[in-house]
Amino acid sequence: MIKQPLLHGFRRLLLFSIPFLLYLTNASLAQIITGRPPQFSKFPHNSYSPLEGTEFSIKCPLLYDTYQIEWFKDGESLGKSSLILSIPSISRIDSGIYKCYTYNGIGGAFSPSINISVTYFDGFKQVSESFYKIKVPPSGYFSLKPPPLNASPNSKLTWKWKFEEQEIFTNDTHYISANGDLIILEAARRFGIYRVEVISEKSSAISLEYTVEEEIGDAAPPNFAIVYRPRDILILDDTSTSATFECVPSIWNKFPAEINWLLNGNELTVDGLEVRTEFSNRRLILSNVVNLVGKSNFNSKITCEATTSDERLIEKADAKLEIYEKPIINKEKLEKEVTKKIGDSFKME
Ligand SMILES: *[C@@H]1O[C@H](CO)[C@@H](O)[C@H](O)[C@H]1NC(C)=O
Ligand SMILES: *[C@@H]1O[C@H](CO)[C@@H](O)[C@H](O)[C@H]1NC(C)=O
Repeated sequence: MIKQPLLHGFRRLLLFSIPFLLYLTNASLAQIITGRPPQFSKFPHNSYSPLEGTEFSIKCPLLYDTYQIEWFKDGESLGKSSLILSIPSISRIDSGIYKCYTYNGIGGAFSPSINISVTYFDGFKQVSESFYKIKVPPSGYFSLKPPPLNASPNSKLTWKWKFEEQEIFTNDTHYISANGDLIILEAARRFGIYRVEVISEKSSAISLEYTVEEEIGDAAPPNFAIVYRPRDILILDDTSTSATFECVPSIWNKFPAEINWLLNGNELTVDGLEVRTEFSNRRLILSNVVNLVGKSNFNSKITCEATTSDERLIEKADAKLEIYEKPIINKEKLEKEVTKKIGDSFKME
């Protein structure tokens, strides 16, 4: 009768002391490992497009001070260790993916990365003389392309064409595309000298003279056709959400054709906001593509349907619209911090 409580008491002591012992080992572990590796916030923007020759600086987005910083460009160390990376006169060769690395005694970590893409503009590249000379029959149509540009891909450009020193504006018979191509739907009386001017944020350039000559002979007038066709568009994550398609049918019986735009075979409703058209429907501007076709949609089709004014002929031209988005990590599923003893198993999804 006396033994029982004694035993109880001993057992109780044992049961209490085991967690206590564990607690002690935990506490001594926690004393060895204190603090965390460095942590970062995001950079204010994912990408920057500074003008060549200007000063550019960016701060490593550290949350707390650390001992050391190292800047990397395209995975290679720049040998720079200041909190603010500063480039007094940025040049095109400085374009790349940048991040900073830092170490604080507990561990090291890389910051998120940013895309620095330097904007530059050196005008037109040299091309052969034959590039500037074409011959067309008077009953046909023709188009002229600007010479290739020596400029950063992100440059904002506007284009001006001149015929015999007179500026050309888009109308029924003339069209200037978003990337500077000139389309002339009635060649007759349009033979002569052309020039194109390109204007960027900081400077501009004028091409050499184009000579468009009449091709003598009795060529039959061409069939009704789409002279300038919409191009495939690939949208990558959040860099841009708008897409522009262009479509220029030929003139038929002196009248321009009627244009309708379709998305996956269904006529698009032009609401003037997210779906707009310009120049008699020849340009289609979709300003919120993801909203219109859905996320990660790889095979949407945009169709330009051109109908002659007498409604007897229809021509169609298709373009692909593909949307790729960055994969998103659901950070809520990840634990911020996990405490484990040495030798414990650990699984992470
Ligand atoms: C960086 O940005 C430029 C201009 O927007 C783009 O052309 C380039 O593809 C981007 N680079 C990367 C690796 O995302
Ligand atoms: C169309 O534009 C061209 C070039 O700007 C011009 O010469 C022509 O007269 C215009 N046509 C009409 C019908 O206004």
